[in-house]
Amino acid sequence: MSIPISKPHLDAREEQYILEALHSTWISSTGQFVQRFENDLAAYLGLPHAVSTTNGTAALHLALATLGIGPGDEVLIPDLTFAATGNAVYMTGATPVLVDSRADHWNLDPDSLENALSPRSKALIVVHLLGHACPMEPIMAIARRHSLLVVEDCAEALGSTHADRRVGGFGHIGAFSFFANKVMTTGEGGACVTSDPALFERLQDLRAHGMARGRQYWHEFVGFNYRMTNLSAALGVAQLEKLPLLLAKRRQVRQHYDALLEGLPGLRTQFTASGEVTDWLYPLFLDEQALGLGRDQALEALRQAGIDARPMFYPLHLMPPFAGAPQAASLANSRRWGLSGLLLPLFPDMEPGQVEYVAAQVAKLGQRA
Ligand SMILES: Cc1ncc(COP(=O)(O)O)c(C=O)c1O
Repeated sequence: MSIPISKPHLDAREEQYILEALHSTWISSTGQFVQRFENDLAAYLGLPHAVSTTNGTAALHLALATLGIGPGDEVLIPDLTFAATGNAVYMTGATPVLVDSRADHWNLDPDSLENALSPRSKALIVVHLLGHACPMEPIMAIARRHSLLVVEDCAEALGSTHADRRVGGFGHIGAFSFFANKVMTTGEGGACVTSDPALFERLQDLRAHGMARGRQYWHEFVGFNYRMTNLSAALGVAQLEKLPLLLAKRRQVRQHYDALLEGLPGLRTQFTASGEVTDWLYPLFLDEQALGLGRDQALEALRQAGIDARPMFYPLHLMPPFAGAPQAASLANSRRWGLSGLLLPLFPDMEPGQVEYVAAQVAKLGQRA
């Protein structure tokens, strides 16, 4: 048995649109699919504007640059996230400041956020990690009190809701990733979304070299080339059309895992979410003492069984680029979540037999001690 961590669901619709884009000869960033993808994404999220990008990291960098973040600024970010969240802060010349997770959930802790503020705090990146939306009211209340600009990193949370709203529109700009392991893919790709027309214009201009509107090859400021290709956008249009189906298939896989893993000693799989969850990978946290087995040993055992399980993200403060970054007084919760967690394979076309095999291997972990 060999089970990948993730596998995109691609069929005749993707092929049809990719071929349409190819035959049109518009294969760079001009072409009908780019605009169509942006319109469809914005409509899905219930927001007026979407700006597609080359990938999710570029979307985060573009969002921060659009908000004017730069050297001398501090940007608060969760200590527990994929490193791209923090890398994007460094890309602007600003300093990331690390905030702890909640004790009862891996997402950002509002109290820790409050403790990490300084006179240089300018922005906050809220990460809806593993498809679980952050409860936004306390976070936005702090942001408003301290005039923080807010970017939502929704890379793992397309379709997740809080208070019946899809994430991405709570802060000033939302950023998405469409890497192949995400809930929908454009190959590589990303997007920024916003409700603010001025930010929308700035996002578009910075994405395309900072070129002046109406005056070709005239540049008013330094920009990037973060444009999505028409080929990628063709994939994206096809994927968005079937997103509800993809999310429903993911939910079935997650529920199957839940039923098989519930109540196993030494494992935690159930977490209260603040809205509808987008099931991305399947998170599992180990109580090493109860299980009698370390996280890395568990990971190795699963790999030996042909399962491409992954470690939960390492807390940023343990890794060289972020070790010297300012941090909240304690990062104990993020350290605990980060070092005790595993991510199991989860993808729309995962067969029931594959889920059963993975669950059986997980159940065996306790017996290896
Ligand atoms: C939380 C988070 N932020 C940002 C990214 C970066 O996205 P990309 O890989 O498209 O650059 C990812 C995923 O890769 C992610 O999981």
